[in-house]
Amino acid sequence: MNIIHGIEELRGTLQQHRLENRTIGFVPTMGALHSGHLSLMKEARKACDILVASIFVNPTQFAPGEDFESYPRNLEQDAEQCGTVGVDYIFAPDSREMYPPETYIRFEIDNLTRNLCGHSRPTHFQGVLQVVSKLFNIVQPDVALFGQKDIQQYVLIETLVKEFNFNIRIMMGETVRDDDGLALSSRNNYLSKEERSIAPGLYRSLSDIHASIQDNPETWQAALGQQRKTLQEKGFRIDYISIVRYSNLQIPERLEKDEKYIIAGAVFLGETRLIDNILFKLN
Ligand code: PAJ
Repeated sequence: MNIIHGIEELRGTLQQHRLENRTIGFVPTMGALHSGHLSLMKEARKACDILVASIFVNPTQFAPGEDFESYPRNLEQDAEQCGTVGVDYIFAPDSREMYPPETYIRFEIDNLTRNLCGHSRPTHFQGVLQVVSKLFNIVQPDVALFGQKDIQQYVLIETLVKEFNFNIRIMMGETVRDDDGLALSSRNNYLSKEERSIAPGLYRSLSDIHASIQDNPETWQAALGQQRKTLQEKGFRIDYISIVRYSNLQIPERLEKDEKYIIAGAVFLGETRLIDNILFKLN
């Protein structure tokens, strides 16, 4: 496995593989890798000949006051993990390699960021689409994998690819969890022991909402309200607990058969923000 820091070097290397008709798979990450990232890489490994993973803590998706500086960085340890799942190349640029000193063009996103994380992190997805489209242009993969864990990010990237004609197949990897249900996240490392013991409550509440909706679809608003209360009692500070349509990320008037929905939540324990979601259709 090779670690490449430069855009031109990566382009040259991948061009060689393309000339030999090899397909390229891509898993973008910000490092601090855990089994969730590795599971995406294992899935990607099956779907391509040459597997590229990127490790880049993208400054433009963090707002001032968020954890850009403290975000965990450990390239050596990450590289070791990538080696165990068959990554061929790690692309690990620094900020100067990725961004000129001044940039003038931004994505403007309509409606799709009105709800969920887009509401509380208004510039976040602008930065995500900026870096992902740059990475797509640099790597030019045939297939790229992203996790369900970040469902709004997934929907936006699907939409980006469709609206801007990227010739890339996007695949979803399922959320990998600890035994107690907590979705793996690089940010779980910020949790104190006590917070870590409370944290699985988020997925439990989302699962309870799901169960209640399948029993009683008409009372979905009440189920949300009930679980918001439960989470607060457990010590979570709630950013949002919502249901939106998968197709447009808007809050539905009522739940309908055959439509795909997302039960999504973002909560704080201390300073740490946790997110999770469940995708469902009515039974
Ligand atoms: P990062 O948070 O490092 O996540 C990289 C990929 O891993 C994303 O597609 C994310 O959805 C997936 N992932 C995270 N936790 C997961 C889990 N528990 N199970 C399965 N997959 C999981 O998402 C980003 O980085 C960045 O926004 C990026 C797309 C790289 C752009 O900078």
